[in-house]
Amino acid sequence: MSVKEQLLILLEENRTQANNWLSGEQLAGQMQVSRAAVWKAVQALREEGVEILSAAHQGYRLSQAGDHLSKAGICAAFEKELNALQINVLPTVDSTNTCVRALAVQGCPEGTVLVAGSQTAGRGRLGRSFYSPGDTGLYMSVLVRPTLEASRAVLLTTAAAVAVCEALEAVTGRQAQIKWVNDVFLDGKKVCGILTEAAFGTESGTLEYAIAGIGINVYPPQGGFPEALQDIAGSVYPAAQPGGVRNRLAAAVLARFWHYYRSLEKREFLPEYRRRSLVLGREIVIQQHGTERRATALAIDEDCHLLVQHPDGSEELLSTGEISVRLKP
Ligand code: BTN
Repeated sequence: MSVKEQLLILLEENRTQANNWLSGEQLAGQMQVSRAAVWKAVQALREEGVEILSAAHQGYRLSQAGDHLSKAGICAAFEKELNALQINVLPTVDSTNTCVRALAVQGCPEGTVLVAGSQTAGRGRLGRSFYSPGDTGLYMSVLVRPTLEASRAVLLTTAAAVAVCEALEAVTGRQAQIKWVNDVFLDGKKVCGILTEAAFGTESGTLEYAIAGIGINVYPPQGGFPEALQDIAGSVYPAAQPGGVRNRLAAAVLARFWHYYRSLEKREFLPEYRRRSLVLGREIVIQQHGTERRATALAIDEDCHLLVQHPDGSEELLSTGEISVRLKP
């Protein structure tokens, strides 16, 4: 591990301490390098955008105002060590799902995670794009290799949705809700979308691997959301927050998702998914193949299908496929 990486780990681990200055001497001693090497690593991190404060006779610490995404910051924020996850962080990629798919094809193990600060070609459901500007969002994908029938891949999406809601609540204290099947809302605005993509063996019909991709609008983008998104999209916070929020949010989502993933078939997350549903008991508009139909959402079954009732009284079980739903105002 480079001095720069070690240094960031030490600074992140010390972030929440009451007196969180670390002297150059202490740091040099812990990493067994010279003080000049510490100084060089501080400069290199600053050039990457990590806000490190320095003070005479005290040393170095991370600025509380900083919200730099990093592996060290995410790992320091895990409540318990999560050795099953291999976290990778990049400032920008085309799409974390696309990158993780390439890693899956190369044989990377499950638990491989890619977190990015922005995406140039973020993808959403139904072939849509996902707006992923820099410095204000959190975009991540997790590779899993479950023993699961392809038709149950939706359980990964719904487990991820509950993980995001719980993480948002733990970090912000605000109640999050879910619009079937993959959208997370805060105060009536979509703040997170989830895209699960999978490859499955044609003969076995079971998943070879799946990628759960999660995109969260943490802050409003500079200049606001594009016009087409203004009525729908929102952000978790109205303005930048201190204390490494994006790292903490990433750690909270990943830890909860992993917990639910490990016992996916037990569907431990399902009661929470139903409890947080924005659609149950409400009138919705079903959008499918360019058509729109009104219905009432009645229930979510064990496989996260949505049971709806049409105006003529007939009932239908919707699976995610090409369908999306809109809430009737
Ligand atoms: C949707 O709202 O339709 C789903 C959006 C999913 C976006 C996330 S961001 C991380 C991952 N990488 C992508 O390209 N998409 C998902």
